[in-house]
Amino acid sequence: MSKVTIMNHPLISHKLAIIRDEKTAPGDFRALVSEVASLMTYEITRDLKMKDIIVKTPIREAKCQTLAQAVVLVPILRAGLGMVDGILQLLPKAKIGHVGLYRDETTHEPVYYYAKFPDEIYLEDTKIFVLDPMLATGGSACAAVDLLKNKGCKNISYIGLVGAPTGVEKLQKVHPDVDIFLAALDEKLNENCYIVPGLGDCGDRLFGTK
Ligand code: PRP
Ligand code: URA
Repeated sequence: MSKVTIMNHPLISHKLAIIRDEKTAPGDFRALVSEVASLMTYEITRDLKMKDIIVKTPIREAKCQTLAQAVVLVPILRAGLGMVDGILQLLPKAKIGHVGLYRDETTHEPVYYYAKFPDEIYLEDTKIFVLDPMLATGGSACAAVDLLKNKGCKNISYIGLVGAPTGVEKLQKVHPDVDIFLAALDEKLNENCYIVPGLGDCGDRLFGTK
């Protein structure tokens, strides 16, 4: 079974409270989603592979370690885009793939419309972070991981801001090898499959649409 990590950190909780507030304007909302993603990067990269190197300091040679694993970020359009810049600040060499999915308003099932990936996803060792702030029914996350696995990808984790138990359970059941990182785990879904209390429609709040 996959590991589920819920961030438990004062800075993340503080920023998430402002993100959730319906009075938070799109500019602040965007900045805070990016900041929380950036803070989560510290935890999600904990197991990245390292290699030994020798560095010459002004004093003498030092045995050091440096990142040895290619990283690809795969935001699920649209809302996942809000997390990319924050993570890139700490992983500037990461490449970006995109998966376009939207939820059908009636069935709440994901509808696929776009995918484009960098060549690094085909390397055996690459670490892939699927990004989407909202894990509601789990349909979109599962569809994005399906797509990546159909291309042969293996080392995949899911990174989100707010999850519902339904979505966590579904992603764990369908993809037990995909670890899940969330800033918060909320109570439930409402009749429209929105997360309760959640933060509303993340894509709309990021991009000012309705
Ligand atoms: C939202 C969100 C996730 C999905 C989560 O996207 O960003 O992708 O819903 O719901 P699920 O877990 O039930 O699949 P939406 O379909 O609203 O598209 P958008 O980001 O383009 O607004
Ligand atoms: N998508 C969102 O943007 N918010 C939710 O609560 C559920 C799905």
